[in-house]
Amino acid sequence: MTDSNRPRNTLTLKKKPATDAGRDDTARKRSGGRARKVAQAERERGKYDALQRQASEATARRKPHPGNQALDRSDEPLVLRVPAQQRREERQPRRAAEIFTVFAPCPHGLEAALCAELEALGFEDARTDRAGCRLTTNWSGIQRINLYSRLATRVLVQVAHALVHTEEDILELARNTPWERWFGAEQTLRVDTSAIRSPMKSLQYCNLRAKDGICDRLREREGERPDIDTVRPDARVHLFLDDKSATLYLDTSGESLFKRGWRLDKGEAPIRENLAAGILALAEWDPEQALLDPFCGSGTILIEAAWIALGVPPGIWRPFAFERLRNHDPRHWRDLKTEAREHIRPRLETPLIGVDLDDAAIESARSNLERAHLAPETIHFEVGDARHVKPPAPTGWLVTNPPYGERLGDNDKEMWSEVATNLKQNFSDWHVHIITSDLDLPQHMRLKPRRRHPLHNGALECRLFGFEMVKAGYRR
Ligand SMILES: C[S@@+](CC[C@H](N)C(=O)[O-])C[C@H]1O[C@@H](n2cnc3c(N)ncnc32)[C@H](O)[C@@H]1O
Repeated sequence: MTDSNRPRNTLTLKKKPATDAGRDDTARKRSGGRARKVAQAERERGKYDALQRQASEATARRKPHPGNQALDRSDEPLVLRVPAQQRREERQPRRAAEIFTVFAPCPHGLEAALCAELEALGFEDARTDRAGCRLTTNWSGIQRINLYSRLATRVLVQVAHALVHTEEDILELARNTPWERWFGAEQTLRVDTSAIRSPMKSLQYCNLRAKDGICDRLREREGERPDIDTVRPDARVHLFLDDKSATLYLDTSGESLFKRGWRLDKGEAPIRENLAAGILALAEWDPEQALLDPFCGSGTILIEAAWIALGVPPGIWRPFAFERLRNHDPRHWRDLKTEAREHIRPRLETPLIGVDLDDAAIESARSNLERAHLAPETIHFEVGDARHVKPPAPTGWLVTNPPYGERLGDNDKEMWSEVATNLKQNFSDWHVHIITSDLDLPQHMRLKPRRRHPLHNGALECRLFGFEMVKAGYRR
């Protein structure tokens, strides 16, 4: 059982498997004929690049914010400090400096937290938008967001935007976009469409028109078009429609970024990793302080916390869609990952404790821990009851995602009353944060929340309630 006298764990990060580096080297080769066509396409691209250069020069003049520690990892200082990367960019100065508008979607309610994370990574012009953040950066920055962002769901690069009136305008927009820069017939393709207030009659037809525009262009320029693969495509394009305009994005992430690469898809409904990281950010968990999840399930919140505390970049052990695109520079990507690995701390002293009533959940949490390349002692998982759990330290954070979904039945109300009694009696000086879709939970607990933050867990509207436990008299 979690015991306040339990000695602090010495936590060790497991070694990275040898398979990872090999993935960087699988960039596809082009045939001679295709290479000639690509070279021709590259010449035609000059006009487009001139416009981009103008934007990149303006960005290059920007000064990094002094005193922002995380700026050590921003594009400019990284270029100055990593000789291999610098040499690479000197060989390809135009490409390396090209600036793109990027949209990074995230769960509803995490926009401001994502913006703060991106600013801390050195993306100073990050601005919140609907369910995401917008910013400008170069291709190296796009790779860095994929590698380092714990809150983003994916990284979309805007490649075209225009007012559209009919589906034929979408076809034209897609035909006029230089897709050959990023993919061709040697890649498979998937196109997805989403819309808000779009007057278009059929989104499916809009999707088809975008796909046709892309394929027509590639067939005209290179003689062949990509095959469609909706399951494991190499290249993914997102068409977004609003009331007047269409935007085409190239998806650089592929699988959603909350898939860190360690979870086995077993059909359970765990909290998503980026939501778990967002909850820890909103709770302002201090990675040097104890963290307890008394309804830990498969351990997502704690595994995410361990990676935060150790400085493990969330994308370090997973592949990305940008690795399969034509412009991928495997050496630069390897340099970025090498630099990231150098900052991973090998051990951790923070007590991280997970408790769950269900022994199958604890078993799955332990195997997730292993697949997340963490040593078994990194997180202490045990079967137990949230109603009786004891604090592992005099102070700390209790952050949890208990069962919910419908309004509480009588048994649940009784459980929450007992959980609340335990918190009041044993957890004074603890910061308690609970995500739930039951907006009456504080009433059932007879606790007054200091904070209530609206969040979405998938489609479910939730609140993250924050309670500061004090010695006595916290009842309303
Ligand atoms: C929504 S799930 C947690 C999911 C978890 N965040 C994850 O990512 O896998 C809620 C968990 O609470 C556990 N649970 C239910 N009642 C409990 C209790 N009284 N004490 C401890 N765990 C309990 C369930 O077994 C379930 O695993």
